[in-house]
Amino acid sequence: MSDPVPSRPSSETPTLWRAGRSYRAPLLVTAFPPEVPFGFLGRLIPTHETVELSVEAHRIPAAHALELIYGARAVAEAELATGGNGGTTAELEVERSSAAELGQAIARRTQELWKVGLRFVARASNRPQAESKRTRLIERLSEVGFRSRIPRYEVRESLQPPDLSGAEPRPSGYWHTLPTDGVAALFPFGDETVVEPGGTLLGLALSDASPVFFDRWAHASYSWGLFGTTGSGKSFAAALLLLRTRWLRPETTIAVLDPLGEYSAWVESLGGSVIRIAHGAGGRLNPLDPVTTAGDRREKAARVGTMFRALFPSLKDEEAVRLDAAVSQLYEQGPDVPTLGDLADRIVEGSGVASRLATLLEVFRSGSLRGLNGPTTARPTEPVVSVDFRGVPDDQLPFHLTYVLDWAYGRLAEQPGPKLLLIDEAHLLARHAATEEFLDRVVRHVRHFDAGLMVLTQSPDDFLVRPSGRSFLRNLYASAFLRLPQVSEETREFFGLTSAEAEWLPRARLPRETGYAESLWRIGGLHLPLAVVASTPEFEFLEATLGRSGPSPDAPASPPKGGL
Ligand SMILES: Nc1ncnc2c1ncn2[C@@H]1O[C@H](COP(=O)(O)OP(=O)(O)OP(=O)(O)O)[C@@H](O)[C@H]1O
Ligand SMILES: [Mg+2]
Repeated sequence: MSDPVPSRPSSETPTLWRAGRSYRAPLLVTAFPPEVPFGFLGRLIPTHETVELSVEAHRIPAAHALELIYGARAVAEAELATGGNGGTTAELEVERSSAAELGQAIARRTQELWKVGLRFVARASNRPQAESKRTRLIERLSEVGFRSRIPRYEVRESLQPPDLSGAEPRPSGYWHTLPTDGVAALFPFGDETVVEPGGTLLGLALSDASPVFFDRWAHASYSWGLFGTTGSGKSFAAALLLLRTRWLRPETTIAVLDPLGEYSAWVESLGGSVIRIAHGAGGRLNPLDPVTTAGDRREKAARVGTMFRALFPSLKDEEAVRLDAAVSQLYEQGPDVPTLGDLADRIVEGSGVASRLATLLEVFRSGSLRGLNGPTTARPTEPVVSVDFRGVPDDQLPFHLTYVLDWAYGRLAEQPGPKLLLIDEAHLLARHAATEEFLDRVVRHVRHFDAGLMVLTQSPDDFLVRPSGRSFLRNLYASAFLRLPQVSEETREFFGLTSAEAEWLPRARLPRETGYAESLWRIGGLHLPLAVVASTPEFEFLEATLGRSGPSPDAPASPPKGGL
């Protein structure tokens, strides 16, 4: 990483080394902050400045490492026993307890101790530039909690190349003792998980445009969330990432829950089929069909209860109990595949035709939901399928989404191979506790079927109210934030966003301003500011097929003419 001290005529000033027209201004670190993010050096050393960094690491044998740790602990304890050093008592406590933890980690061999030589060198073709680069570096280091020093009259000793023994004398601030995690954090090229072999292209790093590849299938959960204000590019990004996933793994099957009917033309252009709920086009999904739980009638009864809570949020407790009882009886005694009409009959039998419950359920026989009363006729076999809810009244959307989610979940469980389920406008499922709990269960179980969710909604706050929503969010392996109008304190805390990130998100640029979407991805422990960028063919395909270009809610059912 560092050049040796040049052999051509050169000279030393108190703080710089000069060789011909090359000036080298060294900088040493005297104190580390308690924590640094992985890859932080990439941000300290921007690509547009020539700053050299040299890191040499020498492993300290375990026995010696333990001696060092016990020594450090003893010093901290002795200082604490004498009342500490004024305001530094808390720091000493931390030192004592972290020395103890580190000692255990070294004994268990999960960490090692390293003697690390660390040196920055600002380089320029003249003295003032080298000095000012070094000054900027000092400022950036101090922003992340480092203290540094300019080695005065020690330039030559600082710039000597490492002699590989790790034993040569160096000015103070050159040698440090760090655990393995600390050495790993110094690795300047970010984290290797951002270029996962076999991954799909997520976007380009906003800092230096390096491409970030990520393999969804290589992690504990395959489910992701995308959050952003209207027009921030959620639907576009989701469709783009699904396209790229299918190019890499063509066997991936995709289902889309599409409340606004934005994906219909796109799905059809991929050779898929669309079920249009409001028009009955593409066939009927019988919400009571136990096929979705592979015949588990008790589980099905519970899910049906969830659907009704979404449809009739005003149900009184005793009505809910009667409805649940009727549903359970229907699955115990009723036909193999009950219909909503069968359920309405049972309610009339039990509570009388004039009861409020019977009146409510009339909606399935003569009201706006009568189209759902009957057996399932929609059995799409295409690898890409969507359910378009456009034209469904707003207050019925959570209900329709719930039984369709139940249906989609059933498909995920029974189909082989990798599967993705895209749920747009997912806040509709956060309106009611029962549907949110169901979504939480789905996200926790789908990975057992080689499946993942892609959940889109405007604000993460929608899911931060109840424990089930928070649990759901915790089960998303990646969360991407596009422009958010504001970042609530809850969101900041829940996702561990820094205050700089929270301040940036309302300023993230929109695709209509830039032609790409600025975003912050939280993937596992990483925070990656990325531009979601489409290539020209990707953009043209998505522009031609995505969006609210299908038939209007009132138009007769006919497939839209999307495609290339
Ligand atoms: N990454 C991108 N590159 C280029 N154009 C984009 C990108 N993302 C979005 N757009 C453009 O911005 C428009 C709005 O994006 P999109 O519909 O995905 O927003 P959204 O976040 O889903 O909004 P809503 O919440 O209203 O559904 C798209 O129609 C597309 O033209
Ligand atoms: Mg959208």
